[in-house]
Amino acid sequence: MEENFKFYGVDTVKLSEKYGTPLYVMSEDHIVERCLEINEDFVDKYENAFAVYAGKAFSTKEMCRIVKREGLGLDVVSGGEIYTALSVDFPVEKIVFHGNNKSNEELNYAIDNNIGRINVDNIPELREIHEIAQSKKKVIKVLFRLTPGVDSHTHHYISTGQKDSKFGISLKEEILYEAVEFAMSSDWITLAGFHFHVGSQLSDNKSHLLASKVLIDTMKALKNDFGYETQELNIGGGFGIYYSEGDVRQSISYFVDPIMTFIEEECKKQSLIRPLIIIEPGRWVVGEAGITLYTIGSIKKLPGIRTYVGIDGGMPDNPRPSLYQAKYEGLIANKANQEPNEIVTIAGKCCESGDILVWDMPVVTPKSGDILAIKSTGAYNYSMANNYNKLLIPPVIMIKDGVDRVVVKRQTYEDLLSREL
Ligand code: LLP
Repeated sequence: MEENFKFYGVDTVKLSEKYGTPLYVMSEDHIVERCLEINEDFVDKYENAFAVYAGKAFSTKEMCRIVKREGLGLDVVSGGEIYTALSVDFPVEKIVFHGNNKSNEELNYAIDNNIGRINVDNIPELREIHEIAQSKKKVIKVLFRLTPGVDSHTHHYISTGQKDSKFGISLKEEILYEAVEFAMSSDWITLAGFHFHVGSQLSDNKSHLLASKVLIDTMKALKNDFGYETQELNIGGGFGIYYSEGDVRQSISYFVDPIMTFIEEECKKQSLIRPLIIIEPGRWVVGEAGITLYTIGSIKKLPGIRTYVGIDGGMPDNPRPSLYQAKYEGLIANKANQEPNEIVTIAGKCCESGDILVWDMPVVTPKSGDILAIKSTGAYNYSMANNYNKLLIPPVIMIKDGVDRVVVKRQTYEDLLSREL
């Protein structure tokens, strides 16, 4: 008897029959567990601690509703992400607005909607915020994103804290001090504190600790030189998850406890008040909550070379393997109880030799029509999906307590042309 792969109690083969493939399936149960863990082991455990979910990992109306209900804040990086949050009445005071090149329109939009914090990336942006705020007679709370000069050990496309980075304000005195002086002299800007984000899919907190030290030293220097006392310190996200052998999704405590202890002690040592600490996990909340289901089509055996197994999706629904050489695991969902007996390569359907979802994946001998489930696709898949080759973006099904519901509909050919004249 063949058995089907169940994901959070739901038969994935039945889902593929009901909704078609490719199909993103997300577990609300998993997302809620992660939010609870963040609340219990960070927000409630520490005084003066705040967590925002990084929406870029998976931004949909329904996700914003879940995050709102679970009490977390939201990190947004564009007018579009703000619009999504506002569409479900996300509490604006809990939104943090990031971005290395926010447009004037986006800044106006954020300020008109009283977005709680703007994370300033550069001095021209700071001046622009001052002007907009002054014209609207509103006082804006900002944090400066700083470049701590820490190299995190991850793919260089998702490493962000090093000195040579497009993100953040440099710690060089002539740059940082100009920014601080400007903010302190503006009646329309409240400089609440500082932010760093060292990178993504990190397996430990070494870079966070190094960057925290750099930031606290900076806080001390600013206190000495300007009498400025930092109220808030945002230490970013980046906490890693399980994709494939060798990865571990560590607990939130594993990451934050040593950082909190360090910050606490270091602030005491340097006679600083311990600021509000903000974290911004994205992938850690949603990554393992998602799987993608595909139908296997053509199978090409190249004797002595490899077997290519074609699926009905690929780099448009999951660009991560081609962008970051990301590795995924999965299984043939309709043969879940059998041991893999073959190694195959899973090929996407785009006209690109690089559109390979998984190289050398162990599977039970695949047949055309089988359903392939790829795991850990909840983060940076739907949110990075595109229409290359005019493939349709798959729908997103949310499952909760064994019940499935559509949260994003499948695109149609009509949708594809809806903006074309
Ligand atoms: N905060 C800031 C300022 C960020 O730039 C990011 C991610 C996060 C928080 C959340 O990071 P997370 O906890 O999800 O690692 N597309 C890439 C990841 C890009 C991350 C960009 N910034 C990927 O698929 O791996």
